[in-house]
Amino acid sequence: MDNGHIKKIKIFDTTLRDGEQSPGASMNTSEKLNLARQLARLGVDVIEAGFPIASEGDFEAVKAIAQEIKGVEIAGLARANEKDIYRAYSAVKYSEKPVIHTFIATSDIHLKHKLKMSREDLYEKAVSMVKYAKSFVESIEFSAEDATRTDMNFLCEVIEGVIAAGATTVNIPDTVGFATPFEFYDFIKNIRERVKGIKNIILSVHCHNDLGLGVANSLAAIQAGVGQVECTINGIGERAGNAALEEIVMALDVRKDIYNAATNINTTEIYRSSQLLTHITGISVQPNKAIVGKNAFAHEAGIHQDGVLKEKTTYEIMTPERVGRQSNDLVLGKHSGKHAFKEKLESLGYLLNDKEIEDAFVKFKALSDRKKEIYDEDIDSLVAKSHPFEKYELKYVNVVCGDTVTPLSMVKVMVNGELKHNSSCGNGPVDAVINAVEKIVNSKARVIGYEVKSIRGTTEAQGDVSITIEENGTNITGRSAHTDIVVASAKAYVNAINKLHIYNSNLKKSVESEIYE
Ligand code: KIV
Ligand code: ZN
Repeated sequence: MDNGHIKKIKIFDTTLRDGEQSPGASMNTSEKLNLARQLARLGVDVIEAGFPIASEGDFEAVKAIAQEIKGVEIAGLARANEKDIYRAYSAVKYSEKPVIHTFIATSDIHLKHKLKMSREDLYEKAVSMVKYAKSFVESIEFSAEDATRTDMNFLCEVIEGVIAAGATTVNIPDTVGFATPFEFYDFIKNIRERVKGIKNIILSVHCHNDLGLGVANSLAAIQAGVGQVECTINGIGERAGNAALEEIVMALDVRKDIYNAATNINTTEIYRSSQLLTHITGISVQPNKAIVGKNAFAHEAGIHQDGVLKEKTTYEIMTPERVGRQSNDLVLGKHSGKHAFKEKLESLGYLLNDKEIEDAFVKFKALSDRKKEIYDEDIDSLVAKSHPFEKYELKYVNVVCGDTVTPLSMVKVMVNGELKHNSSCGNGPVDAVINAVEKIVNSKARVIGYEVKSIRGTTEAQGDVSITIEENGTNITGRSAHTDIVVASAKAYVNAINKLHIYNSNLKKSVESEIYE
């Protein structure tokens, strides 16, 4: 693995698995495929494509990614039981480089309260399930869930056992984001010094961000000698999320002098990856988010602006271009033909079939009639989301509003092929259309968040709207862009309702097929 003095760090991306566990981040198969294509362009070493036993949808997505994405290892997650492992194998087996990632918790807290198992039984289970997984594929990753709250002697025993059973990667998750950097550094060093056979496998870490230390802990682990880090785009993931891929990669890149380590990541694809994920999930990053936030390269204070104008390095430790943030990527316009459009789609990483290109081109033409300058982000907003088998389709929006009238809307929505219409008033035009759509879809979900921002430019830009709805404790975010923000709002709401519908049907299927250990 060593390249001269520079150590190569494998990037294991779990945006499609742990990332998808973020509230409201569920994606359908075609959206997952789009993101997986971009992850491959970004240069990740491993894509954890999903948790195949979790639902039919998850299984199909992992299988589709395994079938299509070449040159990247494709992992499927499985609890340490035969059903999960066989299901994961059945999905990843189509990959050139399949990986079964099996996990079980090793901490006493989990053993006592969740698994109700003794340490001895846990050890047997971990070892036997790694052997079982090994009967299907060569590359097996074993994760000791809640490793950082596990007794070190027991953890080392389990790691030795699974290595002897055939694990090729052993992952040390800080499942609850409990570790601190110096402590985690010692923890990893300890494991590396004590476990027999550790040099024959890849040691990995998977850090959660509950204390905001996910990236710092991952970097500490790299200094302690791990060969792989698990992370997600924009740091999305369970609860406070996972370590952010872009932050780890750029820390290694900018501070080579400290870390002496490199990744295979093409850093100029970072920003697009972040944007694509945002477009698909509707979950934006905060403006001050490192690397990919709106303000990450904005210099506001006069003294800073003056310094940057004189010499960029006064206040910039990396260029925006290094992470793929160009300011001059104005691309297409009203007169661009299908050929140019198709080339642009390909350069942005979209591999669409003829019918999808045709559909996207129709939307592009409609947009270019309303808007002179079409940016990459506009194209993402047209094609990133895919809407297969949608139950509801917005067909018509009309609103009367102004400073002297009560806003009144009229909407038409296609429901399973039948056109329905309704009208409503509201506090403002957006409220009025949402109320009217709500009368048609008759959902129990309530709107708990609404955000609108412009996709580049000024008043002529597309309004990019995110709406978050909540039902039975589940939050789902819908998103849409349009030059008319009222239309964008109605579409975003319908998008959220469709996602909720898909989520509920997947949940039903997953409950039907649930297997408890
Ligand atoms: O956080 C965690 O422990 C996990 C494991 C499944 C790796 O996500
Ligand atoms: Zn996790």
